[in-house]
Amino acid sequence: MLIDRFDRVATDLRVSLTDRCNLRCTYCMPEEGLQWLAKPDLLSDDEIVRLIGIAVGRLGITEVRFTGGEPLLRPGLVSIVERCAALAPRPRMSLTTNGIGLERTAAALAAAGLDRVNVSLDTLRPDVFKTLTRRDRHHDVLAGLEAARDAGLTPVKVNTVLMPGLNDDEAPELLAWAVEQGYELRFIEQMPLDAQHGWKREGMITAGDILRSLRTRFTLTEEGAGERGSAPAERWIVDGGPHRVGVIASVTRPFCRACDRTRLTADGQVRTCLFAREETDLRGALRSDAPDEEIARIWTLAMWGKKAGSGLDDPSFLQPDRPMSAIGG
Ligand code: GTP
Ligand code: 5AD
Ligand code: SF4
Repeated sequence: MLIDRFDRVATDLRVSLTDRCNLRCTYCMPEEGLQWLAKPDLLSDDEIVRLIGIAVGRLGITEVRFTGGEPLLRPGLVSIVERCAALAPRPRMSLTTNGIGLERTAAALAAAGLDRVNVSLDTLRPDVFKTLTRRDRHHDVLAGLEAARDAGLTPVKVNTVLMPGLNDDEAPELLAWAVEQGYELRFIEQMPLDAQHGWKREGMITAGDILRSLRTRFTLTEEGAGERGSAPAERWIVDGGPHRVGVIASVTRPFCRACDRTRLTADGQVRTCLFAREETDLRGALRSDAPDEEIARIWTLAMWGKKAGSGLDDPSFLQPDRPMSAIGG
């Protein structure tokens, strides 16, 4: 079991399959991209499947989420999913993607055993999409979303970050669209995890701002206590139901107390938290033929060192060295 000093048990593993991305969202990375990890430093498909096998077989992980960068850029993704679906006990599996290429792969991913997807989409306006992501791929994302829904990768969730002056007026429009399409929309407060270190609390659209904007057009009722579980999104029932809208308010309403996550970076480091400054190497152990028990022991020890919270409200808060795209979101 992956338990920490604050009695939290990690049952949810987020696995970053690559730090690369084919978009350049302004709140994430600079125009020129980043210094990507070198191929030999990345875990191989076999190494990833072995680590997930240890996590589900020995450490109590029941949910596996594949992330990036952009996980659809990983050539072995479908086969990794297929091999993980054969593990015992079989974990539930999901994918967080920017949606580009999903149109082509959704059916194969579903057939391989993927359960559901979360797709990032910040705007319904192609020109704003191009400004925000620095790529003209709006249409591909919409097509990817539809393909995911058609393939039964449901519930399909849409993740939206609102940026002042760009798309912060779009919240009600996005929700009306998501309700019509049958997607579950979640707004995410911008977090200080951008590669440029440009985040400013004053420049962030807060959960309060988002709810105020949505209430100009919808009646929102808070979902009953107990329905949230450990999920980072707080949810509201839209106009009496059945649709829901979520807000992931990592900054203004942190949910660290209920955190059930452990993370694996694409180069084989365990991170106990998005905001952790420390990482624990598993790749070295893998490559020196350590037995499964030893790898499980290193992982367990790493989680015991997990901090109580993100530290975002501490005056001494320092942004982690690795940006969101390299940690796995
Ligand atoms: P569901 O299981 O579908 O609810 O997924 P999720 O919301 O946990 O995952 P997703 O990959 O869609 O992430 C949505 C947002 O939540 C991203 O911005 C993540 O960075 C953020 N997020 C995920 N896990 C954590 C966490 O442990 N702490 C914080 N602060 N944010 C998180
Ligand atoms: N703050 C909040 N969300 C972010 N994402 C990427 N960078 C940030 C950030 N700095 C979002 C993406 C995607 C999800 C995995 O995280 O838009 O939806
Ligand atoms: Fe790529 Fe996601 Fe970063 Fe956008 S937020 S550049 S889609 S990793």
